[in-house]
Amino acid sequence: MDDLITTPSETAEDPIVETSLRPKTFAQYIGQDGIKNNLQILIQAAKERGETIDHCLFYGPPGLGKTTLANIIAHEMGVHVKTTSGPAIEKPGDLAAILTNLQEHDILFIDEIHRLNRSVEEILYPSMEDFKLDIIIGKGPSARSIRLDVPPFTLIGATTKAGMLSSPLRDRFGYVAKLNFYTDDELWQILHHSAQTLGFTLEKEAGLALARRSRGTPRITIRLLKRVRDWAQVQKLSHISTAIVNETLSALGVDSMGLDEADRRFMLTLIEKFNGGPVGLDTLAAATSEDANTIEDVFEPYLLQLGLIDRTSRGRVATANAYKHLGKKYTPRPQVIEPPRLFDDLALTP
Ligand SMILES: Nc1ncnc2c1ncn2[C@@H]1O[C@H](COP(=O)(O)OP(=O)(O)OP(=O)(O)O)[C@@H](O)[C@H]1O
Ligand SMILES: [Mg+2]
Repeated sequence: MDDLITTPSETAEDPIVETSLRPKTFAQYIGQDGIKNNLQILIQAAKERGETIDHCLFYGPPGLGKTTLANIIAHEMGVHVKTTSGPAIEKPGDLAAILTNLQEHDILFIDEIHRLNRSVEEILYPSMEDFKLDIIIGKGPSARSIRLDVPPFTLIGATTKAGMLSSPLRDRFGYVAKLNFYTDDELWQILHHSAQTLGFTLEKEAGLALARRSRGTPRITIRLLKRVRDWAQVQKLSHISTAIVNETLSALGVDSMGLDEADRRFMLTLIEKFNGGPVGLDTLAAATSEDANTIEDVFEPYLLQLGLIDRTSRGRVATANAYKHLGKKYTPRPQVIEPPRLFDDLALTP
């Protein structure tokens, strides 16, 4: 899955180009205007008071700019950022070591924060609230708990699965923001800047054609731009037209909606093996040999957004649009009347 051209997850070669293109200030960060405005106010107010900014949580599908935002905040606050991830902090002691090594006002960025160990999460709470760390020293009857001060810091958490975060943890963030998919026009602006930085020009039409096939995701748009650049370079061109974009993308198997082989295989399975659904996630995962997490994080958000699939209480279904896009004949399913759910929560007493 991960070596596919349109996966929104990070691949081995992404960081190399992404680092040079990654926006460093809010001015360079395209889109997500509501979030940017809120953060700018948060930062200005904190600076005026000489305090740290409130803890922030960013969630949304991969590649939309969560890590980038954390780094921009650090840059704008003029502080260091220590980056780690949920699974990397195995024991409470690991977190204690990180926290006690922070400098005042530093940012601790925890990626995949939904994968934090419970025991680690519990010692994180008092540090988020009061900048205190309760650690237990020793074992058995001689064990004792000591309370340490940690420098005032800001925790920035990022996750693709906000639903898996425990509610006590979620409640301790002062600002929670969901990142949205980007519009074609926003992706075009990212492409335009990126092409300039990489030293070539991109026609607007060509840029929009690329944007439309980028699944609303900056990471994908940048990756596709790199492939188009290779194609142009081999042909000794420094100017990229729509024709080059189309040639490159069809060679890569990316279709007019930005779907690749794996997406089409996924939808064909749903249509051909399950008659368009409804089918449960695990059954679909087994039939497509994809991991259920990959289906939920990578395939579904974009297919749902395009209106090619639907999620119902009884499972996933392919919509009429999916049949049309794949050139399949659609016969509407008989309508199933869902039972009334009004009294679901009430205990039935005789
Ligand atoms: N708003 C933006 N403007 C310009 N470029 C962006 C923007 N958002 C993201 N990018 C580009 O896309 C790349 C991927 O973004 P980033 O690594 O921040 O995503 P992410 O949400 O942290 O993904 P993941 O969930 O996989 O960790 C960045 O390196 C950056 O170059
Ligand atoms: Mg990230």
